[in-house]
Amino acid sequence: MSETKTIGILTSGGDAPGMNAAIRSVARTALNLGYKVMGIKRGYHGLLKGEIEELTSRMVSDTLQRGGTFLQTARSKSFATDEGVTKAVEILKIFGIDALVVIGGDGSLKGARDIANKGFPVIGIPGTIDNDIGCSEYTIGFDTAMNTAMEAIDKIRDTASSHERCSVVEVMGRNAGHIALNLGLANGAETVIIPEMPYDMDDIKRTIISGRNRGKKHYIIILSEGVGGGQALCKDIEEATGVESRASILGYIQRGGSPTTRDRVIASQMGYHAVKLLEAGSYNRVVAMKDSKIVDYEINEALDMKKGVDEDILELIRTLSI
Ligand code: F6P
Repeated sequence: MSETKTIGILTSGGDAPGMNAAIRSVARTALNLGYKVMGIKRGYHGLLKGEIEELTSRMVSDTLQRGGTFLQTARSKSFATDEGVTKAVEILKIFGIDALVVIGGDGSLKGARDIANKGFPVIGIPGTIDNDIGCSEYTIGFDTAMNTAMEAIDKIRDTASSHERCSVVEVMGRNAGHIALNLGLANGAETVIIPEMPYDMDDIKRTIISGRNRGKKHYIIILSEGVGGGQALCKDIEEATGVESRASILGYIQRGGSPTTRDRVIASQMGYHAVKLLEAGSYNRVVAMKDSKIVDYEINEALDMKKGVDEDILELIRTLSI
């Protein structure tokens, strides 16, 4: 059984709605089991500076429904070196922390793996709006980000329709197209352009021209930031089709806001699972979702796993956008 008495927790990388729910769940599950919980501010950056304080149950009150992360987050350059990781482990030990829970995306979980590979116990929880962690069907924040973007694109559609324009909407996702793909379906887009799939500009222009000839009043193209170039795309479309085109970049609005039910529920379940792993003496694992169930994988194995986009969704978008 576990020798853990004190659990440290940090959030790292881009914030994601639901991170607070995960912190709260880790803290309260651990406190219920009699552990001490230490909150580390500003991710690995704060860890290296020893920005660490004890978390009580009351300190996580009123956080469940809030966007962002109350522990703050950062992208640390100094941590990304062997010396940085060694120093981080030293600081964790100085503060009496026996195991670390990291909530974040790919880079953050790789940081956790580096700490694990120095012999310090860690658990990773996937938290990123991008849903691009190979070992998990779901990452905390994805649902909220998509709902926020979906509402924004509905509004863009109103004005595109009034002006009979084509709207190219760039959404986040770094090098992954999961957000764009799902929004394409949810917003009834004509086309989705994502890094994982080739696209044919002539095909896009044909779709717009034939749509206009059939009386369509607007054309929505969801463009993943991993491809980018919205302005140039609009210019090209406008010149070739004669349909006025406008680009919008949704940007950071997608990362904010109160988490949806799905994000609160999954974040709470993943936080609970993380602490139960520690209680069972099981370390160096990433909590994940598989077949809608919460599972976990050894951290090196987890970070080697890959997942692709659901190509059937792209086909469905084409089928439904006639
Ligand atoms: O990983 C989440 C994310 O929002 C990506 O979609 C985006 O590419 C990136 O973070 C932006 O990062 P930053 O906050 O450093 O600008």
